[in-house]
Amino acid sequence: KHCFSKSSDGFLYCEGLKVQDVMDSVEKRPFYLYSKPQITRNVEAYKEALEGLRSVIGYAIKANNNFKILEHLRGLGCGAVLVSGNELRLALRAGFDPTRCIFNGNGKLLDDLVLAAQEGVFINVDSEFDLENIIRAARIAGKRVNILLRINPDVDPQVHPYVSTGNKNSKFGIRNEKLQWFLDEVKKHPDELKLVGAHCHLGSTITKVDIFRDAAVLMVEYLDKIRDQGFDVNYLNIGGGLGIDYYHTGAVLPTPRDLINTVREVVLSRDLNLIIEPGRSLIANSCCLVNRVTGVKTNGTKNFIVIDGSMAELIRPSLYDAYQHIELVSPAPHEAEISTFDVVGPVCESADFLGKERELPTPPKGAGLVVHDAGAYCMSMASTYNLKMRPPEYWVEENGSVSKIRHAETFEDHMRFFEGL
Ligand code: LLP
Repeated sequence: KHCFSKSSDGFLYCEGLKVQDVMDSVEKRPFYLYSKPQITRNVEAYKEALEGLRSVIGYAIKANNNFKILEHLRGLGCGAVLVSGNELRLALRAGFDPTRCIFNGNGKLLDDLVLAAQEGVFINVDSEFDLENIIRAARIAGKRVNILLRINPDVDPQVHPYVSTGNKNSKFGIRNEKLQWFLDEVKKHPDELKLVGAHCHLGSTITKVDIFRDAAVLMVEYLDKIRDQGFDVNYLNIGGGLGIDYYHTGAVLPTPRDLINTVREVVLSRDLNLIIEPGRSLIANSCCLVNRVTGVKTNGTKNFIVIDGSMAELIRPSLYDAYQHIELVSPAPHEAEISTFDVVGPVCESADFLGKERELPTPPKGAGLVVHDAGAYCMSMASTYNLKMRPPEYWVEENGSVSKIRHAETFEDHMRFFEGL
């Protein structure tokens, strides 16, 4: 069951509510609309897939850091994957159990590592200097830190190069040939470090799960080598990266169950705890960016639908040429002609588009138009470019009521940065 559906008479619904009615009842500006039950269903799919394994679902906070959503995910039993001190602070405020949190990154700062060490979160080791900082942080915090080594299994996730990470020349992870050096360092620092496992992250938007098995097989070989040296390593962290159906073509894509089943045997064969780090596949499909049509224009051969939303609210199409499905929330008038449009925002950049060459009925001014699958890496990557202040967020709850889960950013919020200067 999916939260957004189009009725036969052409209205878009979110969990039984007309999106048009939601639009009419909130402030006139682009907004994000989530389905809380969809988020629950996405987590349940992972939980069911993981039955029979000792596991942690570490939700990758970078995908969406709305505080209400974090509290909800925590309530459903998720841990959290963090890439900055502020994400760690936010996770703690939202009540996440720090011993179910994992701190990742190739440039973790000493102060943030100290906080992570104090709180007892798992830390993934990315490089020689990173390990040095982790040792210092452990000393400052007076705590022994649970660490995992981030290894690059060097399998090709077959995705956009910007979201491909687990390859040999990636900026992330240790150089595998230097594994022994890392093991020797850990042995020298028993008071500061406890090596508990290995981590990899292959990339994002992955739609073929075989590579997770390939990676898991390679990773347990590394774990075997590490165990041979007397380390008691029990955690395999296979990262995140499962893709979703951005194209809405009805194509059958791998589910969390498919993902977990491809690695299940490997994990069980070594009696490991499995950590996964999903972001997109937990949250992306639970949300739309709802926009209003400002007008329609043509420049010779090209037609444009100009909306109030833009690359400031949602940058994935501009940044990665990503496809996100676009449709109108209400049926267009009968006489509306269907044409091919670029859907663009008002920002002063030719890169400011939400969709290219989309077949759509010519919408009237003020019509609602949604960009689907906007739950992950959309609001969290939003900016205030052109002083388009960040949009408000709403969700539809289980009982069908709509509530605001983040205020809109305002011009006054902006001016506050200059107060007292
Ligand atoms: N773990 C690590 C170490 C990661 O680097 C990431 C994402 C994840 C987990 C979560 O991956 P997911 O399950 O969400 O694919 N802004 C890009 C995506 C960047 C992903 C960065 N790393 C986009 O909008 O497509």
